[in-house]
Amino acid sequence: MKKASIEGKGVLNNRISEYLLNSLGHCGVKTHLVKRLNMREQLIKKVEIIPIEFIVRNIATGSLSKRLGISEGTVLEKPLLEYYLKNDELGDPIITKEHIYAFEWAAKEEIKDIDKMSFKINDILQGLFRGVGIKLVDFKVEYGRIWNKNRQANEIILADEISPDTCRLWDIKTEKKLDKDRFRKDLGNIIEAYQEVARRLGIMPEETNISEVNFGKTTSIKFKK
Ligand code: TMP
Repeated sequence: MKKASIEGKGVLNNRISEYLLNSLGHCGVKTHLVKRLNMREQLIKKVEIIPIEFIVRNIATGSLSKRLGISEGTVLEKPLLEYYLKNDELGDPIITKEHIYAFEWAAKEEIKDIDKMSFKINDILQGLFRGVGIKLVDFKVEYGRIWNKNRQANEIILADEISPDTCRLWDIKTEKKLDKDRFRKDLGNIIEAYQEVARRLGIMPEETNISEVNFGKTTSIKFKK
């Protein structure tokens, strides 16, 4: 796995994720976000994380194209939801619902709720991004359980960041990648792409000065009030 520290990316992700989670919240999706604390930190609700990554795809690319030979860019007739086990040692393998129930990683009722929430999140985010000239290609989310006082019934909430690190975002006209694939595929201009997403979402004023000195070197970010 490629690793690098890109100065300034965390700040942008924090702002973008806050905006997206709040937008989902306004549409009735329960999330772990309480509030953004500062440029780099968020206050979130404590949950018991479900050990599954939920990936929703609208357009074939990435591991779907690689694994099944589906041509890159194929628009899927309807959104495709996949399950991956959260296990770094095993490389987060793809799993089926039968695996989830057999090994009790989540209950049937929970998965039913999560499937519904995932498609709802997809609908909301697709519309939100379409409005600013961006195609939501795919994204990954995780969920967590909140137990009630008697540890009986539980509530499932979205418990993840949503940012260009966890979504694929393409410009509607040019199909330019505005997400982490710029890093994964060595395309460069990562900060500019994330900045472009923030600017289009209206969460970064035009006056904002982000200067990327060089890849890996210091990036200064100032958000003007
Ligand atoms: P994939 O095509 O590599 O399976 O990725 C699908 C989507 O999930 C893509 O938007 C990137 C995101 N993703 C993560 O956020 N974290 C991960 O660990 C992986 C594998 C993918």
